[in-house]
Amino acid sequence: MKRYTFLLPLLFLLITLSAKAQTDAGMDAFVKKLMSQMTLDEKIGQLNLVTAGYPPTGLGVSLGVEEKIAGGQVGGIFGVYGAAKVRGVQELAVTKSRLKIPLIFGLDVIHGHQTIFPIPLGLSASWDMNLIEKSARIAAVEGTADGLNWTFSPMVDIARDPRWGRISEGSGEDAYLGSRIAAAMVKGYQGPGLSQNNSMMACVKHFGLYGAAEGGRDYNTVDMSRNTMYNYFLPPYKAGLDAGAGSIMTSFNVVDAVPATGNRWLLTDLLRKQWGFKGFVVTDYTSLNEMIEHGLGDLQTVSALALHAGVDMDMVGEGFLTTLKKSLKEGKVTQAEIDQACRLVLEAKYKLGLFEDPYRYVDEKRTTSDILTAEHRQAAREIAAHTFVLLKNDKQTLPLKKQGANIALVGPLADNRRDMLGTWVVAGDWQKSVSVKEGIQHVAGSGVNILYAKGANITDDTAFIHRLNFFGQEMVSLDKRTPDEMIREAAGAASQADVIVAVLGESQSMSGESSSRSDIGIPASQERLLKEMVATGKPVVLVLFTGRPLTLPWEAEHCTSILNVWAPGTEAGNAIADVLFGDVNPSGKLSATFPRSVGQIPLYYNHKNTGRPYDGSPQTKFRSNYLDISNDPLYPFGYGLSYTTFSYSDLKLSKTALKGAEKLTATITLTNTGKYDGEEVVQLYISDPVATISRSVKDLKGFQKVMLKAGESKEISFTITPEDLKFYNSDLKYDWESGEFVIGIGTNSDELKSGKVNWTK
Ligand code: NOJ
Repeated sequence: MKRYTFLLPLLFLLITLSAKAQTDAGMDAFVKKLMSQMTLDEKIGQLNLVTAGYPPTGLGVSLGVEEKIAGGQVGGIFGVYGAAKVRGVQELAVTKSRLKIPLIFGLDVIHGHQTIFPIPLGLSASWDMNLIEKSARIAAVEGTADGLNWTFSPMVDIARDPRWGRISEGSGEDAYLGSRIAAAMVKGYQGPGLSQNNSMMACVKHFGLYGAAEGGRDYNTVDMSRNTMYNYFLPPYKAGLDAGAGSIMTSFNVVDAVPATGNRWLLTDLLRKQWGFKGFVVTDYTSLNEMIEHGLGDLQTVSALALHAGVDMDMVGEGFLTTLKKSLKEGKVTQAEIDQACRLVLEAKYKLGLFEDPYRYVDEKRTTSDILTAEHRQAAREIAAHTFVLLKNDKQTLPLKKQGANIALVGPLADNRRDMLGTWVVAGDWQKSVSVKEGIQHVAGSGVNILYAKGANITDDTAFIHRLNFFGQEMVSLDKRTPDEMIREAAGAASQADVIVAVLGESQSMSGESSSRSDIGIPASQERLLKEMVATGKPVVLVLFTGRPLTLPWEAEHCTSILNVWAPGTEAGNAIADVLFGDVNPSGKLSATFPRSVGQIPLYYNHKNTGRPYDGSPQTKFRSNYLDISNDPLYPFGYGLSYTTFSYSDLKLSKTALKGAEKLTATITLTNTGKYDGEEVVQLYISDPVATISRSVKDLKGFQKVMLKAGESKEISFTITPEDLKFYNSDLKYDWESGEFVIGIGTNSDELKSGKVNWTK
């Protein structure tokens, strides 16, 4: 028997495949039978996704929702959550509508449901796939405990422009890292299988290229070569789908001049035919109707266009609901197209187990047992602490001592719970979050003396405040005191302190959807406070909240330390204090470049060489550079310090000449040369200096997060295969080309030890 144990994995695979074939066959038969009983109106009804009102992110909301559900005119709903509420709405569908087809319940569960994790850009800075997957798993457990079964996440749009407010919702600028994260998130949400009552169907978004909005202005037009799309922007969508995501959302922008929502090349040729996607396609919020503004025709025309392109579900727009019947009569769409869309929506419900039990996700008991548990909060704390990026730490000012320190804690984000959560927290309650002040009190207790002063408003600009408070709540407000009075108070606190901790940056509504900024510095009111603090001559630790890379040239020069904490979520204050006092050594690395100035944007590490590359010399003319600023970023992609130091030495390549499918092993010795145990993200980049197209100067191809004790050394190895050398050439063929390759390993995209190999086919 023992001799055959090697066959066990094969046997397991066969059993899984045959079980899948049986499920598929069962699903086919079920859906076919159901559809044979459906009227045309009922089929079109399944293609209609309505909102319960919140969050309204577009130009309209759904009306007459209850009647429509009862009338079989709705396939899914988003914005309703809470087991009892979901039960009520599901009851309408399964008791009142003729065929009793259950609804699918969606929501933007983006970085946690009620236990909020760091914003996605922050999560990506952890470079830790296990932690990212865990955050999505917990989000799914909580979301499903609140009656949901579909999340509009992960957002995998590559972004090279930090003016774009939604860079906060994605994983930054790199296709490789973005793809790994897309897969981890999908795995986390969908768990061991969609039929589990604690798994949510993932929705990869926004397909496609939404992150490349011109000028960083949200919803703006996109124009990009196919080559750039294939090499840099499309891979994360595909990775999310390959990981099994059940749905995908279209984007607002045009792709090759045709709006994504009506783009047949995108939604059928690429998505279905090339990538083989079997799930369903939903539009973004009224993106179908917005094709009218794009100049593609009236509602009937654009609805037919969307269906024909490959859209299956219309979010809030009701273009399908109100025009498809007419279009069918007039021969503008076919019955087969309507049937196909309906089938895919019903299949999703089947996979979620909703036909077996429409209340599968409705279990009131789970509301208390599965949401905001101590365990989830603890995970949020640990995960958040792993996303912080230490940008600067002069004279080892951090970590702070837990005993005897007098700390001036200043800034509008220091004693603030609301802004801990960041963008997209539909179900998150900011009152349950931990402020920085509270976190420091929990972690350092009476050992430290905290001298708190707010010191400044988030901003003094009332027009800006008005924009930030769009949702009607006082998200940002002006203090009753004048800016001068607040500064004086902060100066008073600083005068008695040994160290100043300034908690500054972006508030919750300064990034996210429809929150682009042209000036991405710290707002003037806070900058003024910071300058006053620096002027005291005491060490200033800047704890920076942000939903995007900011321009920080002054801060980088004058602050003693900068700890970038993004928007860390429910456990913000505790996680920040864990890192400030050294219980956790920071290990985050940037997933998006920090420019020196807005004028350098777009600035990203894997740019192409120009024909006139700049050598950095100020005396040079006729080279690609600026007269007034260097080409270099302030902080490059992959950058991030630790309380300890790491050295990289002894890069070894197993071969220098390779042929065909051979494998290369690249090994480097990593040594923790400092005083603290710590984690380092070891990064592998490959350059292909000569090819049939101009390649980027380097591309990330691997990374490992490694824990080393103080003084410890370890050999870190990467196995490189021809797969890692492939790219899309000018015929969009994915292949590699013989020649020389530069293998670089190091601590960030700019500091690499490198060696060369020759690899021929
Ligand atoms: C519009 C956003 O672009 C999208 O990301 C979101 O999922 C929908 N609104 C639904 O809230």
